[in-house]
Amino acid sequence: MHTQVGIIGAGPAGLLLGHLLHLKGIDSVILERRNHEYVIDRVRAGVLEQFTVDLMTQTGVEARLHREGMRHDSLYLSFAGRRHHVPLAELTGGKAIYVYGQNEVVKDLMDARIATGRPLHYEVQNVSVHNIDSSKPAIHYEADGKQEELKCDFIAGCDGFHGICRPALGDAVTFYDKIYPFGWLGILAEAAPSSEALVYTYHERGFALFSMRSPRITRLYFQVPPDEDIDKWPDDAIWDEMLKRLSTQDGWKPNVGRILNKNVTAMRSFVTEPMRAGRLYLAGDSAHIVPPTGAKGLNLAASDVLHLARAIASFYGTGKTDLLDQYSDTALQRVWKTQRFSWWMTQTLHRFPDENPFDYKRQLADLDYITGSRAALTSLAENYVGLPLDVSF
Ligand code: FAD
Ligand code: DHB
Repeated sequence: MHTQVGIIGAGPAGLLLGHLLHLKGIDSVILERRNHEYVIDRVRAGVLEQFTVDLMTQTGVEARLHREGMRHDSLYLSFAGRRHHVPLAELTGGKAIYVYGQNEVVKDLMDARIATGRPLHYEVQNVSVHNIDSSKPAIHYEADGKQEELKCDFIAGCDGFHGICRPALGDAVTFYDKIYPFGWLGILAEAAPSSEALVYTYHERGFALFSMRSPRITRLYFQVPPDEDIDKWPDDAIWDEMLKRLSTQDGWKPNVGRILNKNVTAMRSFVTEPMRAGRLYLAGDSAHIVPPTGAKGLNLAASDVLHLARAIASFYGTGKTDLLDQYSDTALQRVWKTQRFSWWMTQTLHRFPDENPFDYKRQLADLDYITGSRAALTSLAENYVGLPLDVSF
């Protein structure tokens, strides 16, 4: 078997890459180790930057997003019992964020892929990459008990943080890593959102976040120790803690409802440099991880893939490899700025186990400064809605 681009992983990065390549008439095979339902049901990110929405719109996978997604022109920063309004659109010349679950994005991209008739194989096993330093790299895998070989011009490693592609880059890469001394306990609840905007809360008991998925479903998180056992948290205890951290002096609080899903996610910052070796290119979580506080993971996967699809299309259009050679540097410029912002949001809004009362007061002063300064709010807003990126493709 042969294809132009072998894509490993059918998360947002792999599916979006397949979609963009298809629009340029480039063929690909997407290989995913999980089954179709598992990939759709995974509850993960929920916030799309303006750029991601623009890219989906420009490439024709936006119909349901515009029908069911929720545009947010603002958010709240909450501390010392008060919510402070951050008018994102007003501060960024009209940009916004959109609340639309990652699983909905994945569903839309899966449908688009199926409509093209191009290959998308689920439940493949024992995937490995070979000859990445040659002009004909190959992917080996098992499907339905049969050993297969897929020869490619290029391999895209879109297989997430625990995939096989990053370890296959060899020794010529450097990893930059930071592990945070906390994680997030997240829930989906059957409760109407009680605020029209997200609420990021710094509380003496720790960080908490109010978000949503639809007019009937609220999404909430709070900071816990990184290895917290979810079984230690019966539903009543979760609501008790959520209400303690999120409620504000003006009487605002989240609506309480049946908990549909709960889990704990550890938090880290991680970057691979360069994001390629030979003809193996990484995109998305396989190359980098951000802590979720800035809601950037999915968006960063989309910007990597846009750069990679442009570079591959340029190669087939002109025979030149310059954009492919520059791919890692180009992608990493945004990756590092986004790492910086995600780290900054994380350290501004969480309590650290080794902090002292001075640190707590300083963090409150930081938030008081930010919410009182149009310059500081503008910096936050332009990063939160996403730094400018040309989506032409
Ligand atoms: P993934 O979505 O991880 O997709 C990779 C795919 O590759 C998966 O489908 C996987 O099954 C497949 N794969 C792995 N190994 C192989 C293999 N060997 N062969 C074939 N296929 C393979 N971001 C936010 O912004 N907000 C959040 O609230 C948030 N919550 C998160 C919670 C969790 C538990 C996790 C893990 C991530 C969360 N993120 C969040 C980050 C965001 O979901 C990711 O940044 C985003 O999914 C990246 O997309 P991706 O396609 O690069 O990777
Ligand atoms: C959501 C997740 C985030 O990490 C974030 O910063 C904001 C919202 C969410 O799942 O809705």
